Amino acid sequence: RTVYVNGQYVPENEASVSIFDRAFLFADAVYEVTSVLDGKLIDFHGHITRLERSLSELGINFKVDADALLAIHRELVSKNNVTEGLVYLQISRGAASDRDFMFPAADVAPTVVLFTQSKSLIKSALAERGQKIVSFADLRWRRCDIKTVQLLYPSIVKNEAAKKGADDAWLVLDGKVTEGSSNNSYIVTRDGTIVTRELSHDILHGITRKAVLKCAAELDLKVEERAFTIAEAQTAQEAFTTSASAFVCPVVEIDGAVIGDGTPGPIAKRLREIYIDANR
Ligand code: PDD
Repeated sequence: RTVYVNGQYVPENEASVSIFDRAFLFADAVYEVTSVLDGKLIDFHGHITRLERSLSELGINFKVDADALLAIHRELVSKNNVTEGLVYLQISRGAASDRDFMFPAADVAPTVVLFTQSKSLIKSALAERGQKIVSFADLRWRRCDIKTVQLLYPSIVKNEAAKKGADDAWLVLDGKVTEGSSNNSYIVTRDGTIVTRELSHDILHGITRKAVLKCAAELDLKVEERAFTIAEAQTAQEAFTTSASAFVCPVVEIDGAVIGDGTPGPIAKRLREIYIDANR
C-alpha cells in the first residue's frame, strides 16, 4: 500500500513518524474514517466538518483545507485501487522534542497520516446474520463527541465481548446505553419507533447516524432521540448500529436476550439497503 505522511506518498513500510509524536505518547490526536463505495468517498464533507470540530475542541493547530484533504483521499484511493473500503485520516498535535505533558510550542507542525483499507462493506456476513452484543460500563472520558484516538477502552470491551462469544459491545452510562464500541446504537420499539440517544458529549455525532435518520424521515418512520436502557433494548422489536465502516448493521442478541425473532429486522434491513443505494 501507498500511505500518506506529512505531505509525502510513501510505501507503507517506509512511512515513519517520531516516537515523540503526541499521538504515540498521549493519544493527542483526532481521526476520521470515510468509507469508499465504487471508488467514491461517502459523506466526505460531513467527516471533514466533524474533523474541524474535533481539532478545534482540542486546540490542535491544523487549518483544514477540505479541497486539499479531498485530493489526498482521492489520490490514495486511486493509487491503491480501492473500489470498496475505508480511508483513515489522523491528525496529531505533532512531534514534540521530548515527552512533556505541556503542549509543544505553537510552531510544531501537526502530524498528518492517511492510509486506505480495501474491504468488502456491502457484502457482510455480520450484517446478514446480525450482531450479538454484550454490554459494559462506559468508562471512557466524558468528551466522546470528540473523535480522538483514545481507543483503548473500546478496544478492550470489543475483545471482552469476543471472549464471551459476542460480536461487539454496547456501553452503558448511568443505566442508559450511550453507543457501541465504534458505532451508534438504535432500537426499534414494538410500535415501530426508531430510538437512538440524543446528541451530547456522551456519544460521537455519527455521520452515518445523520444520514440514516434522514433516510428514516423520508420513509416516514417515527424517530425518538432519547436514551434507552439495556432492558428496553432486550424487549425491543429490532436493534441495530450505524457507522462508516459497517453502515447499518442489525443486532439480534443483547446480553443473551434474543431480539425480535433472532434474525435481522425488516427496518434495519431496509435502512441498510436504502443507505447503500443512496451512496452508489
Ligand atoms: N467509528 N461512535 C463511535 C464511538 C465511533 O467510533 C464511531 C465510528 C461511530 C459512528 O460514526 P460514523 O457514522 O461517523 O462512522 C459512533 C469508526 C468507524 C472507527 O473508529 O473505525
